[in-house]
Amino acid sequence: MKALITAGGKGTRLRPITHTNNKHLIPIANKPMIHYAIEAVVEAGIKEIGIVINPDTGNEIKEALGNGEKWDISLTYIIQENPIGLAHVVKVSESFIKDDSFVFYLGDNVIVGGIKRFLEEFRNSNNNCQLVLSKVKDPQRFGVPEIKKGKIIKVEEKPKAPKSNFAVTGIYFYDSHIFEAVNNIKPGWRGELEISDAHQYLIDKEYRVGYSEITGWWKDTGKPEDLIEANRLVLEQIINHKESIIQGKVDNHSEIIGKVIIEKEAKILNSNILGPVIIGKNTIVENSYIGPFTAIYYDCQILNSEIEYSIIMEKSKIIDIETRIERSILGKSIEIVKGNSRPKTQRFILGDQSNIKL
Ligand code: TTP
Repeated sequence: MKALITAGGKGTRLRPITHTNNKHLIPIANKPMIHYAIEAVVEAGIKEIGIVINPDTGNEIKEALGNGEKWDISLTYIIQENPIGLAHVVKVSESFIKDDSFVFYLGDNVIVGGIKRFLEEFRNSNNNCQLVLSKVKDPQRFGVPEIKKGKIIKVEEKPKAPKSNFAVTGIYFYDSHIFEAVNNIKPGWRGELEISDAHQYLIDKEYRVGYSEITGWWKDTGKPEDLIEANRLVLEQIINHKESIIQGKVDNHSEIIGKVIIEKEAKILNSNILGPVIIGKNTIVENSYIGPFTAIYYDCQILNSEIEYSIIMEKSKIIDIETRIERSILGKSIEIVKGNSRPKTQRFILGDQSNIKL
């Protein structure tokens, strides 16, 4: 059994963050998003993992993940020259997978509880393909299966009248018949080789397509609000189920309520922290309030400011901001500081597709 994890794509919905960062390295609860996919696969006992990258941001991924030593596994990088669909990702990975069965895991999907149970269900079934489904309130936004007698008989992309209240998540188990499918389907209306068409091909050829159901939560972090929400859910899970970990310094004038992780060399001075919150290495929080569901990465400075329900990436500074910052994602080395010049104005230097709500 092998695993294939995506780390390419375009990431257009997460611009401007993805102009300079590969989406899969954006931190969720201070850990690059793709680590959650790798760890889920490793925990299920898989040791051979292919990471599919694109030519422009692939090096960033290689540098961040290395050869897999950290997890005692072997990572093989597979280049997809153009991001032209998930079925195309599978197609370009055939020489890595060979005749094995494998789990195909979209690197921007975050779930709690791992994939071990789904892997066992796939192994114990005689299915050629097993899709992991999650019950959702708004199936119209997703790929939706039609189910009969425990088998999937159809998958519709974003249907107006969904045949079930399940979404097909970004975790799929296949045997090698999937290659017959991806090598025979044609690009869809978006010009991409669609994974739903590959699944439909298997169904039409009477291969067995079954499913497992996620009972915990699942998040596809394609959009900014999903990313902030995934950060909240992970913080709730990781932090609320453990004791607080305080490795940095918290002075006597600070108050900490709820569960927090304060990493090494971080300093909390005269501030209030209301967990679940994680504060990264060497970050300074002074005369400030950090509210629930906030992750502040390493080497940041938060002075005389208030932040809640946000993700702040490394080396950013927020200084003397009077209005609370909420539901925000800040990229690397961002500065939001109060200007003291007169007349009182607001001055911006913003990259393409930045998004400000004042
Ligand atoms: P998507 O979220 O569907 O696409 P995207 O990441 O390009 O983002 P956007 O829609 O905002 O432009 O991709 C799901 C996952 O699959 C994600 O990990 C990226 C990856 N992917 C590839 O590696 N190659 C591809 O050709 C496509 C379409 C996606």
